[in-house]
Amino acid sequence: MFDLIVKGGTLPDGRVADIGIRGDRIAAVDRLDGAEAGQVIDATGDLVSPPFVDPHFHMDATLSYGTPRINQSGTLLEGIELWGELKSIATIDEMKARALDYCDWAVSMGLLAIRTHVDTCDPDLKGVQALLDVRESVRPYLDLQLVAFPQDGLYRDPNAHAQTLRALDMGVDVVGGIPHFERTMEDGRASVQELCRIAAERGLMIDLHCDETDDPMSRHVETLAAEVIRHGLQGRATGSHLTSMHSMDNYYVSKLLPLMTEAQVSALPNPLINIVIQGRHDTFPKRRGLTRVKELRAYGITVGWGQDCVLDPWYPLGTADMLDVAFMGLHVAQMTHPDEMRACFDMVTVENARIMGFDDYGLDVGCTASLVVLDAGHPVEALRLRADRLAVISKGRLVAQAPRRRVGLHLSDRPDGVSRRHSTA
Ligand code: FE2
Repeated sequence: MFDLIVKGGTLPDGRVADIGIRGDRIAAVDRLDGAEAGQVIDATGDLVSPPFVDPHFHMDATLSYGTPRINQSGTLLEGIELWGELKSIATIDEMKARALDYCDWAVSMGLLAIRTHVDTCDPDLKGVQALLDVRESVRPYLDLQLVAFPQDGLYRDPNAHAQTLRALDMGVDVVGGIPHFERTMEDGRASVQELCRIAAERGLMIDLHCDETDDPMSRHVETLAAEVIRHGLQGRATGSHLTSMHSMDNYYVSKLLPLMTEAQVSALPNPLINIVIQGRHDTFPKRRGLTRVKELRAYGITVGWGQDCVLDPWYPLGTADMLDVAFMGLHVAQMTHPDEMRACFDMVTVENARIMGFDDYGLDVGCTASLVVLDAGHPVEALRLRADRLAVISKGRLVAQAPRRRVGLHLSDRPDGVSRRHSTA
């Protein structure tokens, strides 16, 4: 007897199986003909995937687009300035309301785990208080991991160091930073060293906004990798963005990538944001700014795709859809071989889950019973269609459901409806 059976779905590896769920765990992945269940969801012909995961987001800023004004230049720096204006007028209740709205969107998209940076430079730590509350409210169905993020610079803002420690004392999960925004390269390096020391001392993971610039001399990821090795933080560190790597000299990168492999530093590009924010100072040719995704992966470095922003001072679009994120990443990184497209799907599921440190994620027996039923036959088709989420199950419970869409055609001698699914891979 199961609480819930998801019947007949196609798993990302191509197997067709029923998934039996008891409580909040997957209890069987098999043919379960004749088995009884409290609830059965028919997924015949549909893709059943573990849920989407986003290891890079800013939930304190989300859904604020246009408040108090829009970003005229589209640059990172004007975005930071604009966020400074917004956070001075934002209230805890208003931040919570926006964050909870975004969590609803996430659940509807099968996005069930999010690592969000939260600004620690506001003297009242309003964002930290708001998101600690939100983390608890959504815990039954969505895993939120908070990163203490000194947005204005650990050393550039005189209060940031103390407040970042305060945020960690309050229960924020991960150490964050922004070395390329410090006043000097030396301050940037010092901030990476200090943040790694804090992470090691507290036994925490570290995830830095790192080298989010087109300057090939922005090399803080090198310091991050070296400090990770020095402190024994291997496998617990992430370099987010790493866009300067796009413009670095190839010889230098040939030395950097083995160092990142040795340090087991994960890479987390955010393609929707990188493609619109980087290269703004270029005329033509205009650089794409995305980090070297294929090269990082070839060195065995874990690489995910992050969303970063939705309707905020840095990005005017977004729907909490990790398939949109992977779709953009696939194009900008030119990952069009079938194996590479498949890898892009894994990057927004299993690779992102690895970056967040989950050990009970997946579709194996014993894993957390969280999954999404997609209106697609296989992972690449899910990417092509940015497929609808027909059902979302979180921790054993059906939390979202949508009808299958079929567009009606009013054409003589043609079928009366079309779905755009196509059987070949
Ligand atoms: Fe970010």
